Amino acid sequence: MTSMTLLSCLRRAANTNATLQWRFIHTLQRRQQLHQQCRRMHAATTAATATTTRDSCNETKFNANGSEQRRAMSSSSSSSAPKLVAVAESRRFMIDCFLAVKVPQAHAEAQADLLVAADHRGHFSHGMNRLEMYINDLAINSTDGGAEPVVLKETPSTAWVDGRNGLGAVVGNYCMDLAIKKAKQVGVGWVCAKGSNHYGMAGWYSIRAMDQGLVGISMTNTSPLMAPTRSKEAALGTNPLAVGAPATNGDKFLLDMATTAVAVGKIEIQRRKGAPLPDGWAQDPSGNVTNDAELGFSTGCLMPLGGSELTSGYKGYGLGAMVDILTGVMSGAHYSTQVRKWTHAGANSAADLGQVFIAVDPNCFAPNFEERMSDFNSRLRSSAPTDSSKPVLLAGDKESQNMQAVNAVGGIQYLENQLKTCAALAEKLKIKPLGFL
Ligand SMILES: NC(=O)c1ccc[n+]([C@@H]2O[C@H](COP(=O)([O-])OP(=O)(O)OC[C@H]3O[C@@H](n4cnc5c(N)ncnc54)[C@H](O)[C@@H]3O)[C@@H](O)[C@H]2O)c1
Repeated sequence: MTSMTLLSCLRRAANTNATLQWRFIHTLQRRQQLHQQCRRMHAATTAATATTTRDSCNETKFNANGSEQRRAMSSSSSSSAPKLVAVAESRRFMIDCFLAVKVPQAHAEAQADLLVAADHRGHFSHGMNRLEMYINDLAINSTDGGAEPVVLKETPSTAWVDGRNGLGAVVGNYCMDLAIKKAKQVGVGWVCAKGSNHYGMAGWYSIRAMDQGLVGISMTNTSPLMAPTRSKEAALGTNPLAVGAPATNGDKFLLDMATTAVAVGKIEIQRRKGAPLPDGWAQDPSGNVTNDAELGFSTGCLMPLGGSELTSGYKGYGLGAMVDILTGVMSGAHYSTQVRKWTHAGANSAADLGQVFIAVDPNCFAPNFEERMSDFNSRLRSSAPTDSSKPVLLAGDKESQNMQAVNAVGGIQYLENQLKTCAALAEKLKIKPLGFL
């Protein structure tokens, strides 16, 4: 792909709003500069020039994932050229893995769609990264890949569902679709599920409602990892929540976040890098804030959103508790410390997670919701930035940008460790290995 083709490709991809487009073009210009630097590197003969420019090229590779960059890099460092995986191939691989552990085709597809969407959106912690854990749970029957959810109790606007220990995406899609149906009939659908499993990105279910012109809300409880403010023990999970509201022309607001200060994966990354943790992420065994990534990881006590009591961490603690009340407590599922621990090896007991799915028809209220949302969004995005190179974003913008960047270059760049896990999985399950572009 030439630089000009890449430019027009990114321009087309970034057509959702002017701010994103500007940002993409700015990024592209930077990539083109780096690309030219890479070309100059081929001609350069001095070690000093090569070293400096190679660093710039590595930045290009990391940011752009582009075939043009890969070609430019290939002669100088072919062994480290990034491998791209097409979204469809990533989905195929995940489906094959699920089929290999006897998950029915429709359920395998539902789960793979959810995971590949997380990678596409840049939330690698909740995409392919989780595949091995799901497969291990399925292989030891702590999740029932064939289970179909059932309604236990129902009113025109509510339903109580038993997920029957089925896959998270199967239970979640079923519940959100039921909530959507009810919202279309009576204005609001509120569906609570017990007996569910890890359901990935909370935002996936909000998107399902937004696609129907509805406001979508989703929450789940998770295995204990967050210490309540003033405690030295984990008693709540990372308990994510998502709220999505559609605007015109496909624009939206999509807040999708854990209620801990950071996801546990971010602690793991600091640990791998040998870097310290910022204040407010994790505690040591005595309950003090720690900057030691190794200790923070082994202790398993994340701090709530907001950090310590002094910096209002009790608000994140309150939000995490709210999620558990509306999911675990209300659905009759496990909650708080009742929820099992979960590791990459899987778990030998059912998770029995609680989840809630809410769909609301905005037409029940003031007219022109989507137009008003677009106006709302543009007011926030156009507010004066503190740094002119970083325009103000809205929840969901970073993920949209990531999808556009993946689409522009044609594939997802997974971490080398992830690719090793995939190769091992393919061998273990005797399926076709993951293919690269
Ligand atoms: N199922 C589970 O057990 C579980 C548990 C925890 C997290 N998750 C998922 O993990 C994913 C990542 O969660 P996270 O908390 O690490 O997300 P995050 O911190 O990356 O982002 C949280 C939210 O902030 C928004 N955001 C980011 N930067 C912004 C900016 N500069 N301006 C405005 N908004 C901005 C994002 O668009 C997103 O909506 C989510 O999809 C979440 O649902 C799932």
